[in-house]
Order: sequence, then structure tokens, then C-alpha cells
Amino acid sequence: MKRIAIITGASSGIGEAFLRLLSGGEKFDGIGDIDEIWIVARRIDKLTQIKSELSDDRIRTFAADVTKPEGMSALGSVLEYERPVVGLLINCAGVGFKGRVIDMRKDVTADTLNLNCVALGNLTGLCLPFMRSNETTRIINIGSSAGFLPQPGFAAYAASKAFVISYSRALAEELRSERITVTTICPGPVRTDFQSKATGGRTAEFTGLRKYVSADAGKLARASLKAAGKGRRMLVYKFSQKALHLASRLLPVSVFMFFERRMAE
Ligand SMILES: NC(=O)c1ccc[n+]([C@@H]2O[C@H](COP(=O)([O-])OP(=O)(O)OC[C@H]3O[C@@H](n4cnc5c(N)ncnc54)[C@H](OP(=O)(O)O)[C@@H]3O)[C@@H](O)[C@H]2O)c1
Repeated sequence: MKRIAIITGASSGIGEAFLRLLSGGEKFDGIGDIDEIWIVARRIDKLTQIKSELSDDRIRTFAADVTKPEGMSALGSVLEYERPVVGLLINCAGVGFKGRVIDMRKDVTADTLNLNCVALGNLTGLCLPFMRSNETTRIINIGSSAGFLPQPGFAAYAASKAFVISYSRALAEELRSERITVTTICPGPVRTDFQSKATGGRTAEFTGLRKYVSADAGKLARASLKAAGKGRRMLVYKFSQKALHLASRLLPVSVFMFFERRMAE
């Protein structure tokens, strides 16, 4: 039976970095052999371009909006028909919109939660029946250090990533006796198109402190595959974010809100 990897959000950024690593022939302990890599995103031109650049016959493109029932059912039908083992599921597609809630378009919260939370949960549910295997299978969910604390000016995004962290931890525990592991990845800023999209094109670069702590997508993807291969439940990526994680567990939220307010002033 063929063993596949599914990567959502593979048309750019971190998802594309995962694809490049898996396609590059590098072996990752605990990940196992992959016969096909199914890459999912809305921009088929980008997926096709990356596939032809990598010239890897194992790559299959799926143009799908995973927030839409038809996008999810298109994937579901192929899974049902071909019945592969999903050896690796990487839920990477995600979006965020910066700004005060009062100033944003009204459906911004729905757009954020539908992709970052609902689609992630639905796709996981779709794949789980295909993940039972003699060899351990892996789920990687891309969270964010934004999920550690409420974030004024990025409220829906931070809340959506808090969901990813909580959901993934609970799922990992539910699957404890199965040979399926769930690894939540929590990076801080990563140099991708994300920032430009989040600010409606106003800034493509991170500014202030974020500029100095921003991470490379390829290095993050490599660290994530290593963590998943070991069955780790969580990877908080880079020292700065580990420090933030620890502080978020030790200090009251009001302390962080105070500093956020001061910085905004
Ligand atoms: N970059 C950062 O600073 C950062 C930090 C922490 C966590 N993250 C998380 O990392 C993940 C990847 O983000 P990134 O930085 O790589 O940003 P990115 O380059 O903007 O990638 C986002 C990906 O999601 C896909 N996508 C968006 N809407 C979709 C939909 N409705 N259906 C299917 N695919 C969709 C996009 O493809 P199409 O547009 O072609 O559909 C794209 O491939 C996200 O979950 C993000 O929250 C990013």
C-alpha cells in the first residue's frame, strides 16, 4: 500500500519549505518512506511551478480551498478511492490579518478561524482513518507563538493559534495508544509572504524586535520534521520564543497587556 505525505499551504513559505525538504531526498529519522507527496493550496499555478522546478514524480498537486466543502470533499474522494496510508500530514495553510477588530472588515474573523482552526480540524478528521499503520504516522500542525497570549491588533489570529495548540495537545493524548503522533510547531516571526498578506501589503518585512528574532522557513521545516520524527508533542522554535513561552506561563496576562499598551503608545 502506498504511503503518502499531505502538505497544505505548500504553494509558498513554510509549506513550500517542507515540500522542498521532503522532495530533496534527505532522510528524516522516524518519518519513514514517502511514495507520494500531495500538495494542497488554492494557487495551482504556484503548485505546478514548484512541482516542475523540483521535477519529482512523487508530487501530486491539488488545487483546493480547504475552507470550502468542495475543496475538502475533492481531497476526501481521492483518499477514499485510492486508500493510501497517510504517513505524514502537515497542516500548514494559515492566514492572519493585522489591525484592530473595530477597523477590520466584518468577515475577517470567520476567514481566519475557518482556515486556521476549522479546516485544520476537518482535514485531520478526514486523514485519521488513513493513518493507522504498522509504521508510526505523524501529524505536524503549524501553530505559532502568537497562540501563547492574547494579541491586541492581531486578536483573531492569536486566538486561532491558541486553538491549534490546545486542539493538537488534546489530539496527541487521544492518540497516545495509536501509532500516530501529533507535533505542534510554534515559531515566532518567519520570513515568508505571511507578513505582507497580514498587513494588506503595507509591510513585507518584520520591524522592531521581530526583525532580529525572525526565522528561516527552511531551517524551521527541518527542525519540525526532526521533532515529529522523534514524536515530540511541541516544538517552540528558537530561543526567543522559548523565553516568551516560559514567561507566558509564569506571569499574569495583564503584565503582557500592559507592555503591549506601552509599546503601542
Ligand atoms: N510567517 C510567519 O511569521 C509565521 C509565524 C508563525 C506561524 N506561521 C504559520 O505558518 C503557516 C504558514 O504560513 P507562511 O508563513 O508560510 O505564510 P504564506 O507564505 O502566506 O503561506 C500560506 C499558505 O496557505 C495557503 N492557503 C491560504 N489560504 C488557503 C485556503 N483557503 N486553502 C488552501 N490553502 C490556503 C496559501 O496558498 P494559496 O494562497 O495558494 O491558497 C499558502 O500556501 C501558517 O499557518 C501561519 O499561521 C507563520
